[in-house]
Amino acid sequence: MPHEPQPTEPADFSLDPSDWEGFRSQAMRAMETALDHMQAPRERPVWQPLGAASQEHLAGPLPEQGAPLERVLDEVESHILPFPYGNSHPRFWGWVNGSALPVGVLGDLLASAMNPNVGAFHHSGTFVEEQVLRWMASMLDFPMGDGLLTSGGSMANLLGMGAAVVARAGFDLRRDGLRSGPQLVVYQSTQTHNSIQKAVELLGIGSANLRQIAVDDHYQLNLSALRQQIQLDRASGLQPVAVVANAGSVGTGSLDPIDALADLCDEEQLWLHVDGAFGALAWLVPECRPALQGMARADSLAFDLHKWLYLSSDVGCLLVRDPESLRAAFAADASYLASLCGGPAAEMHGAFKDRGIELTRRFRALKVWMALKHHGRAGFEAMIRENIAQAAYLTKLIEGEARLELLAPTALNVVCFRHLGAPREQLNAHNEALLVELQESGIAMPSHTLVDGKFALRVAITNHRSRREDFEILVQACLRIGQDPGARRR
Ligand SMILES: Cc1ncc(COP(=O)(O)O)c(C=O)c1O
Repeated sequence: MPHEPQPTEPADFSLDPSDWEGFRSQAMRAMETALDHMQAPRERPVWQPLGAASQEHLAGPLPEQGAPLERVLDEVESHILPFPYGNSHPRFWGWVNGSALPVGVLGDLLASAMNPNVGAFHHSGTFVEEQVLRWMASMLDFPMGDGLLTSGGSMANLLGMGAAVVARAGFDLRRDGLRSGPQLVVYQSTQTHNSIQKAVELLGIGSANLRQIAVDDHYQLNLSALRQQIQLDRASGLQPVAVVANAGSVGTGSLDPIDALADLCDEEQLWLHVDGAFGALAWLVPECRPALQGMARADSLAFDLHKWLYLSSDVGCLLVRDPESLRAAFAADASYLASLCGGPAAEMHGAFKDRGIELTRRFRALKVWMALKHHGRAGFEAMIRENIAQAAYLTKLIEGEARLELLAPTALNVVCFRHLGAPREQLNAHNEALLVELQESGIAMPSHTLVDGKFALRVAITNHRSRREDFEILVQACLRIGQDPGARRR
């Protein structure tokens, strides 16, 4: 297909294809490529570093003139597609990422083509997001007052904490600022994700006023330590505002005692925010509900659909109990956005711009909507249950190997372990070398964390493509590489 002709007359110029038929055939090629990428991930390494030629290519200058789409796609296929992050592969279990559910990929394509601004107004995008939010609340039995889809867990945590401090500051924080009241204090366990720290810092509270409460040997927040700290802070004239509970902590997947924390927050008049980035979705599996009891009592609940709903990045969610709390924290009037007597702005249906800090928002809801229509709630329940069973299976495999050591109790879908093939004082370096070799060889992609100072290989299973045999491959690779992790590099 020829690239776009240069304009002869300024009025004739457009960036739309001049040859739609040719564009369609290239679009079909791009679609085939995308489908191949999703259908046959086992045929490629989980991850590989960019080759020197591709690194050089991607350091090239700004193109002044356009090129035919065919050539642009050639470049994508040569220099970009072979070097993915890896999370569409069945043996990617690093950090916490979704595995790109194919139906969701179609949702993103259609959403981009429609291109609505889901900040506000009357159009299908806002109606779909409202419906998705009601579905989310219903899936989690959460009494939703309000909510919105976000770019991810970090943004959902930030907005939840924003709502919390505005609601519980006890003075008009938005108008008068932080200096007009006592110092605000927030509480979390030592296992909480760093997005809460970022939120607390951004909100001006300061990380010195984010209390790190100790955990027990299941990495669950210690309630009596929290109670004592709150009393100490009140006695010092500080103002406690919120407690953050983990429903699946990032390091080990541990679950805080949410129901007891909800009781404490009721007594102390504190806002309870639950970071359920991945763990909240375990509510779909009835067997997991006892461990998550109390989640529906939270004032705000953050979770990610690009984690345990397997969708492509980026889509997270925040639900809040009080229908006014998000608007109280984020709504701001502007004449250029006010309602009119007709047209799209007639009723500000789904004014998501007033529930968060973004005005222009993409149509994230479509991929969620399509995925739930296609797989149903029951499909996700079955897949999440299987991931939890896979974590238990991997745990058993590890426990059956004398050279491997489990480093934390397996909660939900996270398994932390190490290889014992070096003297005790060298185990951290030994396991780091093992992990890097595992990743660079393209066999599997766990990530890492420190568990009580011990370097852990961390497997977080939010992957709809993994099979039990993948965990056997992982264990065998760890045992083999663990004999001499540096061998390949020498
Ligand atoms: C427990 C927890 N909270 C928050 C986040 C941040 O979510 P996101 O990466 O979607 O911003 C993560 C990410 O892994 C997480 O595991």
